Amino acid sequence: EVWNPTGKYRVVSTKPMPGTRWINLLIEQDCRVEICTQKKTILSVDDIIALIGDHCDGVIGQLTEDWGETLFSALSRAGGKAFSNMAVGYNNVDVNAANKYGVAVGNTPGVLTETTAELAASLSVAAARRIVEADEFMRAGLYDGWLPHLFVGNLLKGQTVGVIGAGRIGSAYARMMVEGFKMNLIYYDLYQATRLEKFVTAYGAFLKANGEQPVTWKRASSMDEVLREADVISLHPVLDKTTYHLINKESLATMKKEAILVNCSRGPVVDEVALVAHLKENPMFRVGLDVFEDEPFMKPGLSDMKNAIVVPHIASASKWTREGMATLAALNVLGKIKGYPIWSDPNR
Ligand code: DGY
Repeated sequence: EVWNPTGKYRVVSTKPMPGTRWINLLIEQDCRVEICTQKKTILSVDDIIALIGDHCDGVIGQLTEDWGETLFSALSRAGGKAFSNMAVGYNNVDVNAANKYGVAVGNTPGVLTETTAELAASLSVAAARRIVEADEFMRAGLYDGWLPHLFVGNLLKGQTVGVIGAGRIGSAYARMMVEGFKMNLIYYDLYQATRLEKFVTAYGAFLKANGEQPVTWKRASSMDEVLREADVISLHPVLDKTTYHLINKESLATMKKEAILVNCSRGPVVDEVALVAHLKENPMFRVGLDVFEDEPFMKPGLSDMKNAIVVPHIASASKWTREGMATLAALNVLGKIKGYPIWSDPNR
């Protein structure tokens, strides 16, 4: 699909993206916009090389693509100056290779913070209250009347929510769980989440003033402290060498038998084979997963586990957010082509 065929700058998007604002922004600034409409979900390096062609000023790409040495050298040979991932995470992008070939890299933070946190909160509640299991039971025609023990789950109020990685998304999630469900907070991050701490303190004081049990917060000195103490644990680190298999056999064994684990970050943060074994041995342990180690696949056994809720990497999938991500990605590329400072540079 080609927009503004006579435009001076050639910008390629490896996928159609939501909304038209991003296309209009590029067209208004004299870009010819080419959108790949191939049916294939995940494009290979060769597919993308063909899209780049002989001349290309910038590319908007997706987290499913392998943006390494080969693609950045091809883009640079084609005269390309800019690449933006349509994602906040950029573990699929070799930033050093981009720097080597003089290609600026952008990502799309900010616009997906609340949307992603909302899905992590939804998975937490759905796991605690066994909503998916109950839905399947109902649809299977198994409901034959109210029973005192039918789908009994956990009350979140008064329990402790644990957050690993209290950056933008982790903090937004923590706030939702504290304010929405009156949970106490324990978090682990290299940096102090000062605003989050202030919020929980103020909210705790508000509850106390109204005769309710105040909520509390604690900054853990180790990740294990969170794993030991929290009832619901949500993972929000970036994926890099230090966070690969952060959750493994040993860390799973540290968690409470009835804990809930939520992952909306990146699949390889969790050792999925160890997780499946843990879910089998501990039927009261529950997980809510948006991401998987070998996406789009799940490790054997995971799809059979009743104590797992699995969704296909949709944490940022609200209309507002996806249009915002597309717009930001277009601005990143445009900014570089036109010589403005790049909008969201992960090197910052
Ligand atoms: C991201 O942006 O990194 C998410 O995984 C997809 O929105």
